[in-house]
Amino acid sequence: MDGNGRWAAQRGWPRIKGHKAGVQAAQDILEAASDLGIEHLTLYAFSTENWKRPGLEVTMIMALLRMYLRMFLPKLRSKGIRFHHLGAAEGLPPGVRQDLAGLEAQTAGHPGMVFHLAVNYGSRLELVQAARRCVEDGLAPLEVTEEALARRLWTAGVPDVDLMIRTSGELRISNFLLWQAAYAEFYLTECLWPDFRGPQLREAVEAYAQRERRFGGI
Ligand code: IPE
Ligand code: MG
Repeated sequence: MDGNGRWAAQRGWPRIKGHKAGVQAAQDILEAASDLGIEHLTLYAFSTENWKRPGLEVTMIMALLRMYLRMFLPKLRSKGIRFHHLGAAEGLPPGVRQDLAGLEAQTAGHPGMVFHLAVNYGSRLELVQAARRCVEDGLAPLEVTEEALARRLWTAGVPDVDLMIRTSGELRISNFLLWQAAYAEFYLTECLWPDFRGPQLREAVEAYAQRERRFGGI
């Protein structure tokens, strides 16, 4: 969800207005992805590195997150979408943790798409925690397999990433799903996140459909 700040700056508005518009885009994408029949959608809302931002921006993002998590519920209900928080609950303000867990509980039985929202997510932290769990579980060195590690990630049971979309013209992965995106197809667009809506998602999925995936084969 990159480019909120620049979207606001282009209009001479404070950054928070960009984040608000970014949440509208997220609502749109949620609906469009579910209508396209996508089974898992992950949005990268806040990384373990985003705490470095000015305190006021972080506070406002967290407040916005709480407000909008509530607003998401009717759409999650009408579309049968299940919510999942991806990231470290430790380190998040208690109210945010509560809301994330609450939305997971309220949507647990939903049969449709799974919407993973990455908040306080960092791929390296996730991998370190998975490695620690292997040790805690008493695994012998040869038992530490790709499957054993994958089962201990926050994405346990979720398929690998097929399509990774990066908005706002940035050309980096920013500690996002490093393990899970090993064979992901990348789609890079100049479009700023608040302008990334249903038509843009459909364009990305169409581009993905043209790719030939070989997974290291020929
Ligand atoms: C992404 O938009 C949203 C968050 C990381 C919370 P940015 O805030 O990174 O927007 P730019 O990159 O400054 O335009
Ligand atoms: Mg950014």
